Amino acid sequence: MDAASRPVVVIDNGSGYTKMGFAGNVEPSFIIPTVVAVNESFSNQSKSISKGNWVAQHSASVMADLDFSIGEEALLYSRSSTTYGLSYPIHHGQVENWDAMERFWQQCIFNYLRCDPEDHYFLLTESPLTAPESREYTGEIMFETFNIPGLYIAVQPVLALAAGYTTSKCQMTGVVVDVGDGATHVVPVADGYVIGSSIRSIPIAGKDATQFIQQLMKERGEHIPPEDSFEVARKIKETYCYTCSDIVKEFNKHDKEHSKYTKQWIGTKPKTRARYSCDVGYERFLGPEIFFHPEIYNDNFTTPLPAIVDKCIQLSPIDTRRALYKNIVLSGGSTMFKDFHRRLQRDLKRIVDARMVTSNAQLIDDVKSQPIEVNVVSHPFQRYAVWFGGSVLASTPEFYEACHTKAEYEEYGASICRTNPVFKGMY
Ligand SMILES: Nc1ncnc2c1ncn2[C@@H]1O[C@H](COP(=O)(O)OP(=O)(O)OP(=O)(O)O)[C@@H](O)[C@H]1O
Ligand SMILES: [Mg+2]
Repeated sequence: MDAASRPVVVIDNGSGYTKMGFAGNVEPSFIIPTVVAVNESFSNQSKSISKGNWVAQHSASVMADLDFSIGEEALLYSRSSTTYGLSYPIHHGQVENWDAMERFWQQCIFNYLRCDPEDHYFLLTESPLTAPESREYTGEIMFETFNIPGLYIAVQPVLALAAGYTTSKCQMTGVVVDVGDGATHVVPVADGYVIGSSIRSIPIAGKDATQFIQQLMKERGEHIPPEDSFEVARKIKETYCYTCSDIVKEFNKHDKEHSKYTKQWIGTKPKTRARYSCDVGYERFLGPEIFFHPEIYNDNFTTPLPAIVDKCIQLSPIDTRRALYKNIVLSGGSTMFKDFHRRLQRDLKRIVDARMVTSNAQLIDDVKSQPIEVNVVSHPFQRYAVWFGGSVLASTPEFYEACHTKAEYEEYGASICRTNPVFKGMY
């Protein structure tokens, strides 16, 4: 059986979570935090041993290479022992620690997916603003360390658009609003090609919503163990938060019917195992509100997400704008808040309609513009739309033709990874 007849390995490495599995599946097999825990006592030991004692130095550095873990296990190790140091290889969508990234991939392949990398083609993903050098490093690690037969590095938002491929019709023109853990990108795509100059990014994503909730709960005097407060805030965010339509009305609703809207969080203290409880109130709607009123969280950044989406489309070529407004696709875990898509659609429509009224007021009846359709698409695969899009593309026969192969890598070097053909045959 050759590699092209085995399922492609699809890995979407995010700043917060890595989604991994095999092409053709509907869901990733594993979603784990993108974090590595390394036993620092071995790496410190290898540095401190004198140069003459190379055997001891070598064995300490081998142990440092072997004694590490990733994902939930890494978080557990670091909580239970001080010898493990945590390293988050990806920040704001960009790989910043390649050693940690390589270790992370190693365990993803051998411990989680449990496959031989020499037997499978790979589809990896990258953020839209990734430098070509970074793609070369990825290629080098994949072809040299793991000896894979073929590689495709896809741009995340393009995959999120392709996630619609199995639904009624796949439109490869649209705006992807990808709100992950560490980065929010608004990316226009026309016929499968990213309009690079119009990409907008904002410094607010899921991690900020978590930090904001953590801060609100602390200010309210809820007794959550400090070492656990970030994790508790994240779980509260994922379980109880929702997007409201009007923040003032929502405060009133909570004040009038306090017991109806307040939720209880029950937790266990990590050290004593004693149970504790805390109330979850205004945080429920204030957490997601940072995307629509960022000034409540960050003084330096005050443009709401709907205005950013509008700006991104206005900066795109004029003949693509109507199609872009019509197909705004959500992707990433932080778009999962209840009614997120409704709020984005409503606020964006208001901006577009207001502009239309102003411009039509200056025109005579015959040349007035037609209303613009604004459509924010929400679908069941939103949480891992990028991974799912990868799974769909990598199960088509065209995929293998678009891949860079090991033979090409050996002939031309890592520079082949700088660019990737798009799947023109598919749409
Ligand atoms: N049901 C939910 N409601 C709200 N937020 C959620 C929900 N489920 C997950 N999240 C949040 O989504 C974020 C993770 O999303 P995702 O996996 O898309 O990010 P990522 O790919 O790791 O990051 P990035 O794309 O920024 O590099 C986390 O902040 C997580 O708390
Ligand atoms: Mg992501």
